[in-house]
Amino acid sequence: MIEPLVIALSKGRILFKSLSLLKKAGIIPIESVENNRKLLFNTKKKYLNLIILRAIDVPTYVKLGAADMGIVGKDVLLENGSKGLYEPIDFKISKCRLMTAGLIGFNVKNTTRKVATKFVNIAKRYYASKGIKANIIKLYGAMELAPIMNLAEEIIDIVDTGNTLKENGMEPKTLIKNISTRLIVNKTSMIIKYKSINPLIELLISII
Ligand code: ATP
Ligand code: PRP
Repeated sequence: MIEPLVIALSKGRILFKSLSLLKKAGIIPIESVENNRKLLFNTKKKYLNLIILRAIDVPTYVKLGAADMGIVGKDVLLENGSKGLYEPIDFKISKCRLMTAGLIGFNVKNTTRKVATKFVNIAKRYYASKGIKANIIKLYGAMELAPIMNLAEEIIDIVDTGNTLKENGMEPKTLIKNISTRLIVNKTSMIIKYKSINPLIELLISII
């Protein structure tokens, strides 16, 4: 018998790309995910359900086994840790870069650097690895405003086209990590639901 599986998907910009990948694997929600307040969806594959979460909650659900698998950005995994998770597929979608950035032409001084970011853990590791003292200020969005308003000298944020930085008089400085969307799998599920999960991973690898 095939074991039931739950896949956690991230709301927001990667949701529809994730759904279209799953569609190619025949995993299609039986009702529309768009304009729907529901968060749990049955699919045409009876053994497989989808749940829709904030990106940051996807690793938590998968780590704790409330979902067997998840689709999430590497930035979220780097920030929140991926202990207890397998990461078998890089879907190579929603590619972007995690970078430091600052006002155009501004050079940071050699004293303690003021940095605004929502990626606090990544920032701490990054500056520690460079031997740079940093005072890290946690923000939840609109990081590009922080240097303009003199809240910080530098930000760490996602950069794709660079337009958001440019429109706010900023420029990317140093690349920290290339980011893309990953499949994550709960380690226990991988063992006890091997017969469902392994063919699914192989199928997903074959379609990307
Ligand atoms: P939330 O809105 O719940 O705080 P979020 O802002 O991380 O979460 P999204 O903006 O939807 O969510 O981004 C989801 C994922 O898409 C990110 O984790 C990252 O991997 C990737 N991403 C974020 N911004 C961009 C971008 N500008 N271009 C390409 N990919 C991006
Ligand atoms: C992300 C990121 C940047 C922007 C970069 O924000 O935080 O602000 O995309 O993309 P670009 O280089 O193509 O301009 P998002 O649009 O996800 O908004 P957010 O503030 O809600 O995270």
